[in-house]
Amino acid sequence: MSDIRLYDASSLGGCLSTNVKDVWRVVLVSMFTALIFTRSYSAELTDARYTKLNYGINLSHWYAQSDNGYDEERLSSYTTKSDMKLMRGKGFTHVRIPLSPSLVFTDGPGIGLNKTRVALFKSRVQSFVEEGLAVVVDLHPSESEKRELGNQVGDTRLVDRWNILSKELSTLNPEFVFLEVLNEPHPLVGSAWHELQGRLLTSIRSGAPDHTIVLNPGGWSGVDDFENFKPYTDRNVVYTMHWYGPILFTHQGASWSWNIAEQVAGLGWPVTQEAAEAAALKARSDEARNFVRQHAQDGQFQKNWIEQQFNKLSRWQTQNDGARVYVGEFGAYRKVSPALDRFRWHRASREAFEARGWGWSVWDFKGGFGVANELNGKTTFEPKMMEALGRP
Ligand code: BGC
Repeated sequence: MSDIRLYDASSLGGCLSTNVKDVWRVVLVSMFTALIFTRSYSAELTDARYTKLNYGINLSHWYAQSDNGYDEERLSSYTTKSDMKLMRGKGFTHVRIPLSPSLVFTDGPGIGLNKTRVALFKSRVQSFVEEGLAVVVDLHPSESEKRELGNQVGDTRLVDRWNILSKELSTLNPEFVFLEVLNEPHPLVGSAWHELQGRLLTSIRSGAPDHTIVLNPGGWSGVDDFENFKPYTDRNVVYTMHWYGPILFTHQGASWSWNIAEQVAGLGWPVTQEAAEAAALKARSDEARNFVRQHAQDGQFQKNWIEQQFNKLSRWQTQNDGARVYVGEFGAYRKVSPALDRFRWHRASREAFEARGWGWSVWDFKGGFGVANELNGKTTFEPKMMEALGRP
């Protein structure tokens, strides 16, 4: 409406005195500038950019959670050009790189960047872009780094740190590089997280006006964390959900997650009541046995349960003006889970994401949840997993 009025006004030309014309010129120029500024500052995420998030792989244990340190020799060789080509060859569209805050920010009270390391990190991100792969830069704190948050000093430090990091990353192509505010901020949830994330969003947005920012609903970024979560007004964002349901299946044998799941092994997916009972009998405690039986009775090891969980998030999307969703992590720990059941679970989950138009990134490349194997320095994808992921 205002555009039409402006053009009409400018055509009044000679009827107006010079002074009035000058005033109109100033008004026009400032409104035009405001329009341009608003466009680039808070543009809507385009479909072209969003589809870069269609098919992805998490590159874990590289720039975060490494058991073998972060010396430059390891960082420069852990993920290679041939890995990139392997991923591109299978039609993956992006990678998600967990980045430990301690690697890029300097210690101490001042806010500073480890410039050398950030420069090298950027050059690696750039190599993916050159291969045609988009990159989600996921700030991925350890549990102890997360404990620094939830108070004024720690929160403000992260807000200020993201501001300098986002300025530094803003030179990377915004069509290919996405900035993820913070992985699984648990125990931060609800209004405390919403408020802190709002501050982080403002801070990143001022450093990187054109980049798409990946936000989350707090907690572990699970489906249920979205229940009372309100999107922000910025429309150049996506909301990330992490999918590991049911944990008893995906984290069987895992030591860091739920101690009950750790006591389970050989649990399949989907399972009949009889198969669940057989798996229950193998669990290491009565408590674990009962959880397996209860979950089976509740239908949690069935495709229909997955659909029900995702339908909650689809409803959230509908209620929130079609806010964009991205499944930034999903996967199952390999150690004691039956391979064929893992493939089935990946397929069912992946098909359900795609049916809803959600991009996804599998956790992980060649770690404990890996979709690839490394043997004698050569990395190859697990063929049946690629079929399950729709990338044969
Ligand atoms: C965590 C990893 C973990 C994975 C699956 C990630 O978000 O950071 O440590 O392996 O989830 O549990």
